[in-house]
Amino acid sequence: MNRAAITGWGAAMPPAVLTNADLSTFLDTTDEWITTRTGMQERRISHVSATEMATLAARRALACARLDPGDLELIVYGSCSNDEQVPNSASAVQARIGSARAASVDLNTACTSFLYGLSAASGMIRAGSVRNALVIGVELISPYMDWENRNVAVLFGDGCAAVVLQATDREEGLLGDDLGCIADARAALRVRGMGCAYANRGIVFGDTAWDFDGQEIFRRAVQGMTRASAAVLQKCGVTPEQIDLVVPHQANLRIIEAVVTRTGIPMEKVMLTVQRYGNMSAATVPVALTEAVAEGRVKPGSFILMPAFGAGLTMCAHLVRWGDRVAPLATIEDGLPPCTKTALEMVNDVRALKAGARERSGAGLQPPALAGGG
Ligand code: UT7
Repeated sequence: MNRAAITGWGAAMPPAVLTNADLSTFLDTTDEWITTRTGMQERRISHVSATEMATLAARRALACARLDPGDLELIVYGSCSNDEQVPNSASAVQARIGSARAASVDLNTACTSFLYGLSAASGMIRAGSVRNALVIGVELISPYMDWENRNVAVLFGDGCAAVVLQATDREEGLLGDDLGCIADARAALRVRGMGCAYANRGIVFGDTAWDFDGQEIFRRAVQGMTRASAAVLQKCGVTPEQIDLVVPHQANLRIIEAVVTRTGIPMEKVMLTVQRYGNMSAATVPVALTEAVAEGRVKPGSFILMPAFGAGLTMCAHLVRWGDRVAPLATIEDGLPPCTKTALEMVNDVRALKAGARERSGAGLQPPALAGGG
C-alpha cells in the first residue's frame, strides 16, 4: 500500500525576539516565574503576514524535496490565525508559489492543526487521490493575543514550517495516528472577538479577549497526550524503547516532562524548542521537526513520536518513520524581508490598536450562546 514519505521540510521563523524581560515591561510578571512555570525564555513576533511566512516555508520545503511547485497536488494549511477568512489561506500560498494544479485546503484544530493536516494529507495519498502534498503549520498569534492578560500573553509566539509528502511503497512516513477531542472542555480555551458570532455586536475582528483555564488545560493535556501516545504505539506495534525521538507540542516544559515520563521515554530523546519559541500553536511541531533534522537528531529510519493538544480540546499522537535522506536535495537563498522594529515595539503597536478597539466595543465580547452550552 502507498505510504506518504516526508521528502521535504522547511521553516520560516520571524527574526524579532520578545524576551521575558520585554514582557515584564508591561505585565506584572517576571523572568523567574515564566521560566520556572513554563520553560520559556523567548518567543518570536512576526513583522509579516502568516501567508508570507507560509510561502517561504513552502518554498524551502519544496526545494528540499526538489519538487516542482507545478507538480504539487495538495496544499493543507494548518492554522487558527488566518490572514483572511474568505478566501482561504491555502489558496494564497498556492498563488504565491505557483502550484496551479494543487487542491488547497485550510484546516483548523488549533495547536494540532499541522498534525491533523499530516493525517489528512497522508490519508489522501494512501487512498490514491493525490500523489504528493504540502502540509503547513503556521501561526500569527501576536495580532490577536490578549496582551494585557498575563495568564496567556507570556505563552505564545509566531512561526511557521512545512513538510512535503510524496507517495512511496516503502514503510515510512506516517505509520499511525490517534486523534480525538475532549469537547466538554472546549470553553477552557476560547478567543473571544474572532468570528461571525460576534458580528451582531458590531465586532468581527479587532479587540479580542482570551478565556484560558491554564490548570484545566494542563491536566487534560497531560492525560490526553499520554493516552494518545500509548494508543498510537499500541496500534503500530512499536514500544516506547524503540522511539528514537519525541517531537511534542511545546506548550509548557512541565507538560512535556509529564507526558514523556508517563509514556516511558527519557527526556534526552525529546526535541525541545519551548525555551526559544514558546508555544507557536500549529507551527510548533513542524518547526521542532525541521530543527531536529538540521541538528542531526533525526537519523535514517528514526521512529518519531509526535503528541499534541490544542483548543477544542483536540488531542493526538502521531508515529512517523523517517526515510533514508536527512539532508535537503536543494536549498533556496531567499528569506523574509528585513524587520525594522523590535518585537516589543510591534507588541506595543498591537496593544495601542486594541486599546482603541476595546473602547469602541465596550462589553461586546461576550462568548456566543451555543445550543448545548460550551
Ligand atoms: O496549546 C494550548 C495552550 N494552553 C496551555 O498551554 C496551557 C497549559 N497550562 C499551563 O501551561 C499552566 O497552567 C500555566 C503556565 C498557564 C500556569 O501555570 P500554573 O503553575 O498552573 O500556575 P497557576 O495558574 O496555578 O497560577 C499560579 C499563580 C497565580 O497567582 P495566585 O492566584 O497563586 O496568587 C497566577 O495569578 O501565578 C500567577 N500567574 C502569574 N504570575 C506571574 C499567572 N500567570 C502569571 C505570570 N506571571 N505570567
